[in-house]
Amino acid sequence: MPENQLIKSKSRVLQHGEVFTPLETVKQMLDEPKLKEALYDISTTFLEPSAGEGAFLVEILTRKMRVAKELAESRLDFDDKSLIALSSLYGVELLEDNVETLVMNMIMTFSQGYSETLVEKFDEKANDAKSKHVLESAKTIIRANMLQGNTLTRKDADGNPLYFSEWKLLPVKRGVQKVQRKTYTFDAIINQSEEESSVVETEPVFEEIDLLADVDFEDESSKTDTAKTVRYVPCRLTEVYQELVEDVAE
Ligand SMILES: C[S@@+](CC[C@H](N)C(=O)[O-])C[C@H]1O[C@@H](n2cnc3c(N)ncnc32)[C@H](O)[C@@H]1O
Repeated sequence: MPENQLIKSKSRVLQHGEVFTPLETVKQMLDEPKLKEALYDISTTFLEPSAGEGAFLVEILTRKMRVAKELAESRLDFDDKSLIALSSLYGVELLEDNVETLVMNMIMTFSQGYSETLVEKFDEKANDAKSKHVLESAKTIIRANMLQGNTLTRKDADGNPLYFSEWKLLPVKRGVQKVQRKTYTFDAIINQSEEESSVVETEPVFEEIDLLADVDFEDESSKTDTAKTVRYVPCRLTEVYQELVEDVAE
């Protein structure tokens, strides 16, 4: 959709309240001091419950990639930091065509930010095997974190529960940063947040995007709702595209 076109059709506005936010407005909202500070931490979690085509998530990713670039001490460190930044962003969107565009926009934004930084900061090109693994892992994370479904019912169009993936960083061992992927239902995360009141309330001006920050995925109530009887094998962030799983005893 052209950047300055804010609606697709009258019927979609009436049926789904679909009006996209102009980039300038998104930028102004994200410049709010509290959000600016949160954005400077690459691991701060953001959830956009009515993501549209990603007006907010794309700009948040752009800003977090800049922080990853600034903080990275080496090219490999940037590989990890850019994926950590990406893995903290979540979105839910009802309509299939919007989700497809959302996923595409996130992939393009990551890929562009990653390639530019390799050239500008590390004098390298994103065409070696390592870059390929980073970009494949980024696609895996984006497809896992951008869900098609209904935020109000927390289900998909077939009535199945929505599942989010947590990308938990494990303690660095012998200089290697690994990640443990775990899946949780949206219900479990919300129930836990309500119990603990750990959801950060946003200013009224953000009611549209209703960002949830720093949801603690580690609570026992969400553990009991862990989705699968297989678990993802801990691996480097740049290897999550392999989606290796192992059986766990029940
Ligand atoms: C006002 S638009 C905002 C889109 C985007 N956040 C933006 O600022 O450009 C609302 C979006 O929410 C989606 N939506 C409507 N009801 C929803 C629901 N129950 N669950 C998830 N998404 C929903 C619509 O399809 C639409 O894309």
